[in-house]
Amino acid sequence: MMKAITLAALLACASTSAMAQTQPWLDTSKPADERARAAVTAMTLDEKLTLVFGFTDPDGVAKQPDDVVPPAVKAAVSRGHIRGSAGFVPAIPRLNIPVQTQTDASIGVRVEGMERTALPSSLATAASFDPAVPEAGGRMIAHEARLSGFNTFLAGGANLAREPRNGRNFEYVGEDPWLAGQMAGGLINGIQSQHMVSTMKHYAVNDQESQRTTVDVAISPEAMRQSDLLAFEFVYENSRPGSVMCSYNLVNGRWACENEYLLQKTLKQDWGFKGYVMSDWGAVHSTADAANYGLDQFTGFPCCGDKQPWFAPKVFKAAMDKGDIPMSRLDDMAERILWPLFSSGVFDDPAKAGPIDFKADADVSQKAAEESLVLLKNDGNMLPLTGVKSVAMIGGHADRGVMAGGGSSGVTPVGGNAVPGLEPKTWPGPVVFMPSSPVEALKAELPKAKIAYDSGDDIAAAVALAKSSDVAIVFVTQFMGEGMDGTLELKGNQDALVAAVVAANPKTVVVVESGGAILMPWKDNVPAVLEAFYPGIRGGSAIARILTGKVNPSGHLPISFPASNAQLAHPDIPGFGQPENSMSVHITYDEGAAIGYKWYDVKGFKPLFAFGHGLSYTTFAVSDAKASVDNGSVTVSATIRNTGKVAGKGLIQVYVAPADYKAAGWEAPKRLVAFHKDAVPSGAVSPAFTQKIDPRLLATYEVSDNSWRIKAGTYHVLFGQASDDLPVSVDVTLPDMVWSAVHK
Ligand code: BGC
Repeated sequence: MMKAITLAALLACASTSAMAQTQPWLDTSKPADERARAAVTAMTLDEKLTLVFGFTDPDGVAKQPDDVVPPAVKAAVSRGHIRGSAGFVPAIPRLNIPVQTQTDASIGVRVEGMERTALPSSLATAASFDPAVPEAGGRMIAHEARLSGFNTFLAGGANLAREPRNGRNFEYVGEDPWLAGQMAGGLINGIQSQHMVSTMKHYAVNDQESQRTTVDVAISPEAMRQSDLLAFEFVYENSRPGSVMCSYNLVNGRWACENEYLLQKTLKQDWGFKGYVMSDWGAVHSTADAANYGLDQFTGFPCCGDKQPWFAPKVFKAAMDKGDIPMSRLDDMAERILWPLFSSGVFDDPAKAGPIDFKADADVSQKAAEESLVLLKNDGNMLPLTGVKSVAMIGGHADRGVMAGGGSSGVTPVGGNAVPGLEPKTWPGPVVFMPSSPVEALKAELPKAKIAYDSGDDIAAAVALAKSSDVAIVFVTQFMGEGMDGTLELKGNQDALVAAVVAANPKTVVVVESGGAILMPWKDNVPAVLEAFYPGIRGGSAIARILTGKVNPSGHLPISFPASNAQLAHPDIPGFGQPENSMSVHITYDEGAAIGYKWYDVKGFKPLFAFGHGLSYTTFAVSDAKASVDNGSVTVSATIRNTGKVAGKGLIQVYVAPADYKAAGWEAPKRLVAFHKDAVPSGAVSPAFTQKIDPRLLATYEVSDNSWRIKAGTYHVLFGQASDDLPVSVDVTLPDMVWSAVHK
């Protein structure tokens, strides 16, 4: 047997190396860029054009005229496209170039009707403040994706939560560039470790969903480079995604998918991105401009906004014949598309459908939720629930499951939608509840307690149940989805329900399942609030285990929660509530790079809950804080001491504040520069955490000479556990410094 395997392996090896003689890109010993170049050199014009035009929905493709999609390509799409998935690029069999099978998105495999494991929302996992959490999640969802036949993941959402009402904030990783870079970077690293290509998206400044396909955002290059683009720059450096998905919107008058500043100058020239830019579905508006300004692959045709098949071979060739696109550019596009297929392992280790261990994968998702849910308030140690005899669980369909976000990142969960039929039933619905009931999970954790559920539809009935129970837990939900923005106010009777229940039973806990921030008019009266975001396929169990203290909460907010709408940088979202793509709107980001807590600091506003806030069932103190400067470079270190009675995970957050932020040219008084989470037993101190601060976090971007600059002066290095809880300060003095924004 042993001999047979060895012989078979030898024969396979021999035939691969024989083929590698004639097709040198099959030679796995060669570097990825050499292999990609060799393959492109061997291609005909039509083969190159095959790579730059991708498809969705085979039925839509079949209806295209034959001169737009030739019959052979239609047949290939019909054979190869996994029905209900996002996209597909045909293979080039003559050259052994594989198909590209593309699936959404950051929380798991989305294929209509195919049940898969959903992670908590990306915003939730960002709250773990531990890149190992999204990395483990990325590994898990990529493994499922490969076993479902995919090799390209449309994941890695990293737009900053500039607009707290943005319907897609749940797909992103918070409001801070450093945090976003670590957390989206972690996810992409996990995905690409499984021999898949991942995107990072939606590049860039795609911060509102209202009129997302027509909104023109005005923002200075300086502000962009210090905020939205800095987040992407960190994600890119941390994880080297093979692809970048350009977004729907316009930035300073140019569509993002043909925006020379974003794609050519910043991404490709300054950062040295070697992979390919793929369009969001329906986000292309031209042939020559898109190709020449940086788009490499028009993906997902025919879709939504597609007015023309801009990269169809016939159209592309016509532009080339006119001299509008040089062959060298098409070669570059093809090479960029192939490079990640080689560098990530897609080429040498093809995805193959196979059985999935859903139990093990759900365990990964539950662990992510347990690391991420944020205990916002816990007056009088109301939580964890111990010794309770009766619990009233109210609202939020908590008897059946936990809410998920809507749109292209919505996974059909294993076990199906627990609450079908809710509005909106159509895009970005249907609203999906993960089949993980908090009520059932709490019953399992507290087998001796009497646990009853009331829907909350009739406030009087809910109040009666709350009155007759030791403790009441009210679940409130906020549905958010792609293509829509929301409001911070909860819908329906939810605020009134909470107010009435807490009036009836002061021992009330509120569990929030939301896409992002919400207003809490009842906050002062409610002793305990747990922010669960969209907690994924085992969300109910994670919630129950945190409420009962089986798991000590350790999540911290990756966004600020505003105290009122009056605190927002933009009172109105242009085009809000109007049908998608129905009007042209403009928005000017006067706040520049001052997003989230930076905006609150500039304005002197006190948010409802600050960025970085999060409680534990124990207490921590940051100790041994140090900051030093060596050759202009700042290094910080600290430990965290568990000063309470139980083990827990403590989070050190480090911010820098110039003595005079305006003189330093900063957008705001302070910036997050480092964070570190550690499990610490009661009474113990963590090992020292040491980190060199990325100098861009201390600098301003100068457009005139494309440089980063630090202004000489005193900078306070602040240590603590939240952006509004930074008790330890160490001063450093920095010299003037200037360096190029072009990556080495
Ligand atoms: C979304 C992308 C998604 C694509 C494919 C678009 O509507 O904006 O995030 O990857 O569809 O489904």
